[in-house]
Amino acid sequence: DGVTVIDHPLVQHKLTLMRNKETSTASFRRLLREISTLLCYEVTRNLDLTMIRIETPLQPMDSPVLEGKKLVFASILRAGNGLLEGMLDLVPAARVAHIGLYRDHETLQPVEYYFKAPEDLANRVVIVVDPMLATANSAIAAMDKLKERGARNIRFLCLLAAPEGIERFRTAHPDIPVFTAAIDSHLNEKGYIVPGLGDAGDRMYG
Ligand code: PRP
Repeated sequence: DGVTVIDHPLVQHKLTLMRNKETSTASFRRLLREISTLLCYEVTRNLDLTMIRIETPLQPMDSPVLEGKKLVFASILRAGNGLLEGMLDLVPAARVAHIGLYRDHETLQPVEYYFKAPEDLANRVVIVVDPMLATANSAIAAMDKLKERGARNIRFLCLLAAPEGIERFRTAHPDIPVFTAAIDSHLNEKGYIVPGLGDAGDRMYG
């Protein structure tokens, strides 16, 4: 139904360490970077390949490479940058978009403060990253903006999602598949994912 839970044992192990409140900022950052390479591996699993002609030291051959233009990774600031780094470790040639959004703590509505993306989004696969999908207000707003700028082939990658957020996101953007390492119990009255891991931005940056 367009939602993939990435249940790889290494992902689940690292996620547990990240949830633990005893985990330090330094460890949290390192774990987020590590886990994002594993998530990147899964979110790119079904990308299309095309054959090119090369020569090995022994003979010519047709061999597969990623089809089309370079990927775009779009990070929803601030916490998205924690996922972005590990993604770029695996796909160093990817283009990057930055989407500055913060949640108003009273209304939980996203406030945009920055948007910068490569020009030609229409012909690229765009992978949007943010560790948390809570109310989904931020992710929905980010997708609205990217579509407005021409993006047509988008997928969303997060670390933790609330069932309420997944529901709202899929209703708003049914064409965008969601990848997450876990779907938690619920959102609390402040819009935090429970049991969750706290506020990812705060745990990374203070
Ligand atoms: C957090 C998180 C998401 C958003 C999720 O960001 O990183 O962007 O909230 O909540 P939502 O699904 O209800 O919109 P926050 O606003 O705390 O900003 P930060 O990453 O800069 O700390």
